Formats: sequence, C-alpha cells, structure tokens
Amino acid sequence: MKAIAVEPGAGEPTVVERPLPEPSDGEALVRTLRVGVDGTDHEVIAGHHGEVPPGEDRLVLGHEAVGVVEDPNGTDLEAGDYVVPTVRRPPNGTNEYFERGEPDMAREGEYLERGIVGAHGFMAEYFTSPAETLVPIPERLAHLGFLVEPISVSEKAIEHAVASRSAFEWEPETALVLGNGSLGLLTLAMFETTLGFDRTYCLGRRDRPDPTIDIVEKLGATYVDSRETPVPEIPDEHESVDFVYEATGYAKHAFETIEALAPNGVGALLGVPESWSFEIDGGKLHREFVLQNKALVGSVNSHRGHFEAATDTLEGLPDWLFDDLVTGVYGLDEYERAFETGDDVVKTAVEFSSLE
Ligand code: NAP
Ligand code: BGC
Ligand code: ZN
Repeated sequence: MKAIAVEPGAGEPTVVERPLPEPSDGEALVRTLRVGVDGTDHEVIAGHHGEVPPGEDRLVLGHEAVGVVEDPNGTDLEAGDYVVPTVRRPPNGTNEYFERGEPDMAREGEYLERGIVGAHGFMAEYFTSPAETLVPIPERLAHLGFLVEPISVSEKAIEHAVASRSAFEWEPETALVLGNGSLGLLTLAMFETTLGFDRTYCLGRRDRPDPTIDIVEKLGATYVDSRETPVPEIPDEHESVDFVYEATGYAKHAFETIEALAPNGVGALLGVPESWSFEIDGGKLHREFVLQNKALVGSVNSHRGHFEAATDTLEGLPDWLFDDLVTGVYGLDEYERAFETGDDVVKTAVEFSSLE
C-alpha cells in the first residue's frame, strides 16, 4: 500500500510503499479516508518536533485521520463503521495513564504519538489500531472527520482552563485567540458557537484581503494585527480579556498572556515553540499573576472523551465555516499540495480513499 513519509529535517514528504498492516488481537483494520495537515506536521517535517520510530529513518506522517473499518477482527466495531483514531499509544505495553484512559496526561517517555513521536502515523491507505482508540462518528460527518482530532485538542484545553476557575463564580465575557492558523480558527468558532462569549478577538499578522481574517470576521470576532497592537493592549489599554487561548507557538505570547488577562482570568497555552531567550519583567508578571488571581494552563493532546465531545462540537459548527476553512482536499496523485503553505492555504487534507 501507499503511505506518505518524511525524513524529518531532510526534505519533503514522499509517497512510499509499505506492507498492508495486519491487525493483532484487539485491533481493527481501518481503510483511511482523509488525513488533515496542521502546524505540527510542518514542525515534524522540518525536524523541529517529534521523532522517527527507533531504528528507522522515516516517519509515516498524519495524526488527524478519519477512516472506515475494513476488518473489525473480532472487536466490538463493525465493518463499515466510520472512525477517528486517537493519537497516543503506550511505548512498552501499557502504563497507568493509558489504563486510566488519560494518555494525554502521560509524561514524556511514557507515550508515543502516531505520526509525531516515535510511531508511524495514519497517512497510509490502511492502518491498524486497538478498538478502544477508534472513536465512532456518524457517516454524515465522515468527510469532515479529520477535524475531530484538532477540535478534541481544544475540548481538552478549554476543559482544563475552565476547571482552574471552578472554585469561584467565574462569568467570562471576553475571549482572545492568539493565532489564525487552523487550530486558532476552529477554537474561535467553538468560542462563538458553543461557549457564547459576548466579545471575541483573534490575533494574526496578515494584511487584508486574507481568507483567515474573513473567517474571523464572519464568526463575529474582531481581527487584531500583532504588528500594530501589543497583546496586552487587546481590546484596548483600559480593558482586558477573561480567556486567552494561545495557538501561535510564539514564545513571547505565553508571557504577554499574563498581562492580557483581566483579573481572575485564565490563559490556555497550546503552542509548541523552540528554545528562545528574551527579556521579560518577571517581577511584574509574577506580582500581577498573584495579586489578580490569574491562571495559566498548558495543554497538549486529548483523550477519547474529548474526541467524543469534539464530534458533537463538529456537528454544531456552521457549514459555511468548513467551506471557508478547508481550502483543499487532495488525492495521492497531488498530495504535495496538501503540504503547501501560503496566505491562501488554511486547512488541507490528503484523501486516501474516496467517500462514495
Ligand atoms: P499554524 O497553522 O502554524 O498556525 C499558527 C498561526 O499563528 C499562523 O497563522 C501564524 O500566522 C500565527 N502567528 C504566529 N506568530 C504570530 C505572531 N507573532 N502574531 C500573530 N500571529 C502569529 O499551526 P496550527 O496547526 O494552527 O497550531 C498552532 C500551534 O499550536 C502550533 O504551535 C502547533 O504546534 C500547536 N499545536 C499544539 C497542540 C497541542 O496539543 N498543544 C495541538 C495542535 C497544535 P502566519 O500564518 O501569518 O504566519
Ligand atoms: C497533536 C496532538 C499532539 C501535539 C504534540 C498536536 O498537533 O494534535 O495530538 O499531542 O501535537 O505533539
Ligand atoms: Zn495536531
């Protein structure tokens, strides 16, 4: 079968031939439909994040997949079920995090991530996976199933951020998303449609006309250009925001988030930056953090419950959003286009098998 693999840091993804996988006990064989591409894939391709499986020089990409069960292999799944796989797997047998159903909380070294950290991903015509890692979705969502994983990442981050404010009466009115990539835009849509903030803002660094700014404004949010407005001054120098969701991977934003927050506010940090030394006024930030009861939550990955919540969220998002957000779904014959970047690219996916 065909798969898309990369030698991280050494070139572009290529199509490779790999043996058809055989499901072990407890695993199902899945025919891949579509696999999304996100900022993390580009970081993996560049060699900035993740690792190849031990003893190999290439990694099969892809962690945002949707497929259809080809062979349930004696599991509770049925042939023809539409499923989305979770990302993390235990490295050596199982461990306490996986046993608890909380692989997203596993420490470094205690997980692999398919398509990212030490395990081949889903960008192949078929993949196998343990039945408990395959989350069923309705057939009507199959064409958009590759958006379940990124939405699940935000389900988790929002859950953790809100939980950090659960010890008192917290009534957030305003939210700010840092980053107009696909994760930022999907989260902004979640803020608009499911969380119902009064006012929302989204930070980018693009000139108009730009498709992401159009999406921000169509969602009813205000676009803010980081080249003109410092993050702590959003929406202005007198007012601050209750919730900040960072999805830029720009390291200064972690610290600017503390200043941008209103008293009692919370910031969720999602970006995965590289090492970068710069000056900050640590004393001022520390003081503000304490005296204004602020919280910062780092969040990575997601578990099965978040995938289930994400499926409901996906169903509730407006159709126009998908038309605007998904700028390309490409077959294997033109898979390179799914990895192109540019101001006219928002979210792309590779299609391995047609939906009809
Ligand atoms: P992406 O497509 O690269 O989006 C990042 C966006 O942030 C881009 O649109 C970029 O603008 C914008 N940006 C970067 N620096 C900026 C600045 N200084 N001012 C204004 N805008 C800025 O990536 P993504 O897929 O949406 O993911 C976002 C981040 O979250 C990445 O770091 C990714 O690794 C991380 N991530 C984390 C998790 C997790 O579980 N924690 C899950 C998924 C992704 P331009 O396009 O104009 O350059
Ligand atoms: C994936 C997560 C993963 C994270 C860190 C994200 O792009 O969606 O599942 O945990 O990268 O590798
Ligand atoms: Zn991702």
